[in-house]
Amino acid sequence: MKKQMIKLKLNKNAKKIDQFIKRFLRKQDNSLLVRPMKYGVISGGKKIRSKVIFDAGKLLRVSRNKLIYICAAVECIHSYSLIHDDLPCMDNDDLRRGKLSTHKKFGEATAVLAGNSLLTLSFEIISDRKNLISSKQKNEIISLLANCSGHTGIAGGQELDLKFENKRKKVNQIIDMQRKKTGKLFNFCLQSIAILANKNKNEIKNFGMLGEDIGLLFQLADDFLDIKGSKKLIGKSTNKDKKNGKSTLINLLGYKKAYKYAENLKKKILLKLRKHGKNAKDLTDTIEFILGRNF
Ligand code: IPE
Ligand code: IPE
Ligand code: MG
Ligand code: MG
Ligand code: MG
Repeated sequence: MKKQMIKLKLNKNAKKIDQFIKRFLRKQDNSLLVRPMKYGVISGGKKIRSKVIFDAGKLLRVSRNKLIYICAAVECIHSYSLIHDDLPCMDNDDLRRGKLSTHKKFGEATAVLAGNSLLTLSFEIISDRKNLISSKQKNEIISLLANCSGHTGIAGGQELDLKFENKRKKVNQIIDMQRKKTGKLFNFCLQSIAILANKNKNEIKNFGMLGEDIGLLFQLADDFLDIKGSKKLIGKSTNKDKKNGKSTLINLLGYKKAYKYAENLKKKILLKLRKHGKNAKDLTDTIEFILGRNF
């Protein structure tokens, strides 16, 4: 039942964000890249990061019309990272969200350029003059988003992910790589909300770390689904991590021990949320969903 509820909420949120991005693109000049960009970001994907943003926003009492800008920017960056992740020079995947990956549909060059454009679109979204937050907060959020997406975040993590293929890496090296490639964007989600909620420096950092733990849990669950998931439900090919020689916790420790690690991480996250009482209810449910999900 709970899973069904979360699915409904995910779909509802996803529609809102799709609408927002469509409208934003409509205000800009048209270009050949709009179609592949929309193909990559709209009508597809769980938009789980947006769910986490709305849940954490509820916890810190930040209004949804401020949060929507963060959601749209994050979903654009996330989709860009997946378009590039699927390229033949990276994971070489033909299937994404139950349809052809962007390079299979539009060609590699177009996929690279559509990905780049989604990355820059996210900064246009945050800096938009209709985003009614102070210039100081805008600057902080923009700088943070760059830090979490570039060489110290997603891109850096993706580079490690590729360099670690067919190598035996230690647990902490794998965790560091996963924190960068996936955790950092979740770190951004929670840090930026704490900024919007006018929290102090220390609280902002702590919220970021909480987000990063959630992101790491999400990546671990993704690795489990690569083995145990159904291609139909997850909309992408399965058993590809082993085929690509990816360094994952499962690869190093075996499925059982890796799952134990994830369960402990989940407990640690839920413990951190306990002090927020009822206000953390939605986020707590989302954390449970993240590890227990089948899509
Ligand atoms: C897949 O992300 C890649 C990871 C970072 C684990 P998602 O599972 O969020 O992908 P979509 O957006 O729902 O397709
Ligand atoms: C992708 O991780 C992480 C990104 C930052 C794009 P994966 O390579 O495991 O994601 P999937 O399984 O292809 O969705
Ligand atoms: Mg990858
Ligand atoms: Mg991949
Ligand atoms: Mg994966």
